[in-house]
Amino acid sequence: MPEPTSFYLTTPIYYVNDAPHIGHAYTTVAGDMVTRWHRQRQEPVWFLTGTDEHGQKVLRTAEANGVSPQAWADRLVEDSWKPVLGTIDAANDDFIRTTEERHTTRVQRFWQGLHDRGEVYEGGYEGPYCVGCEEYKVPGELVDGTGEFEGQKLCPIHGRPVEMLTEQNYFFRMSAYTDRLLEHYEANPTFVQPESARNEVIAFVRQGLQDLSISRSTFDWGIPIPWNPQHVLYVWIDALLNYATAIGYGSDDPEDKARFERTWPADVHLVGKDILRFHAVIWPAMLMAAGLDLPKQVFAHGWLLVGGEKMSKSKLTGIAPSQIIDHFGSDAFRYYFLRAIPFGQDGSFSWEDLSARYNAELANGFGNLASRVAAMVGKYFDGLLPEAGEPGPAELALADVAARAVADAEAAIDRLALHEAIGAVWTLVEATNGYLTEQAPWQVAKDPSESQDGVYRSGGRLATILVTSAEALRALAVLLHPVTPRAAQALWDSLGAEVPLGQLAAQPVASAATLGGLPAGTRITKGASLFPRLEDPADATP
Ligand code: MSP
Repeated sequence: MPEPTSFYLTTPIYYVNDAPHIGHAYTTVAGDMVTRWHRQRQEPVWFLTGTDEHGQKVLRTAEANGVSPQAWADRLVEDSWKPVLGTIDAANDDFIRTTEERHTTRVQRFWQGLHDRGEVYEGGYEGPYCVGCEEYKVPGELVDGTGEFEGQKLCPIHGRPVEMLTEQNYFFRMSAYTDRLLEHYEANPTFVQPESARNEVIAFVRQGLQDLSISRSTFDWGIPIPWNPQHVLYVWIDALLNYATAIGYGSDDPEDKARFERTWPADVHLVGKDILRFHAVIWPAMLMAAGLDLPKQVFAHGWLLVGGEKMSKSKLTGIAPSQIIDHFGSDAFRYYFLRAIPFGQDGSFSWEDLSARYNAELANGFGNLASRVAAMVGKYFDGLLPEAGEPGPAELALADVAARAVADAEAAIDRLALHEAIGAVWTLVEATNGYLTEQAPWQVAKDPSESQDGVYRSGGRLATILVTSAEALRALAVLLHPVTPRAAQALWDSLGAEVPLGQLAAQPVASAATLGGLPAGTRITKGASLFPRLEDPADATP
């Protein structure tokens, strides 16, 4: 088998029962930051997202709206799910829908294969089911209802009553994989991350796994079971396969096969902690049964909370990404959620916190720095970058900060500590602001030895300070491109960097801190503010 060559990252595929809220956008934006970073490591990258369209949850919503599930899904995907990717600036390589033929036929092939290998048997099942989760529940995890749900058992995630299901159906012999899974977690400590997620999964599997019901026969919105089309596949075991079908698994086409060979296994399945077990238990068991390699990592991030509870449309706490982005812009959205919440932990969203960080960090910290430097190169050197003189201790210290920022951010990205990666890059924003304050180029400009006949000289102290600051900005544009792609591009344009250095997206992160990238004579222009100050944060509250 040829060596896999792509860095392959996936998001969950989202249910189309409703439009996206910021919880969904959070996962996609995180995946986008990581994949952009890897692209700037000059690696081949594949970033997949998509929609999960079968199952009762979507079927019931469609019925309640008086349309067929296919028509419902088509409308939501085109009107909401695909457009939101543009709204948040996600640069995904593919978008898979589970109703596409490339998915359904390959899923059937996978399960026919497992059936032929004796991994599937027929049986009966009775148990509580949560349609919100699309999951059979273990009675022990249910909570007692109160108020309108008095006397009923509720799903702990959705807070709604579960339904008792009795079905004659098919089962996957998942219990047989208990030990192999435990061995895999043991031998691959980073397979499930963060540590809290790993511990939860191990504790769960140690109790011993049950066989998994994989079919439903009381409704038909799903992929028909190839050996008994009276049944449809359980939505989760259809959906999980998207990670393989989308890159060519199960196709006879030689190009598809080659793509699968070079892309699988996935490097990271990024998921919310609500769907950790599906990805860290059921999915690897399915892959083991089929003799396929396991993904390298399942990373579970935390929840965006509202009033201490998981934000969700069903609880009417969902906020649409555009509600934030229309006011603050997509860069601020991306920056805020990836910086303010330690990736892997829960976090509460608040308009006040977003506004405060926008003004302090993006407008005053970063945007203002970029404007000041461009304005001074304009004022003292007619917008043409001068030649720097010999670096002094302050320049060397700033270069050290830049080198450390790159090294720390690189290491943080590998641990998916996205907030730390941004924090590391931000040390350079702060150090450059501090450098300018200390060096006070506007004072240096008054020194008669800096100019002759009103023309500031190259190689002088003023030139050195401004070139050093412009170089720090160049590094920041490269390092922040994965996080705030629009502002980074505007900065790249303002630095006139494309002519000497090429496109921003192609700039390697590893050498971002190597000074001397912008040659003397580069034209620097002061464009619009990267992050215009928002005068009245109260305007942001809808
Ligand atoms: N369709 C399944 C996933 C199948 S993957 C093979 C599903 N879809 S979902 O629409 O409910 O999306 C769940 C995912 O959206 C979560 O795992 C998480 O990535 C994201 N989020 C949804 N609400 C969220 C929060 N309140 N907070 C953070 N992320 C959230 O489950």
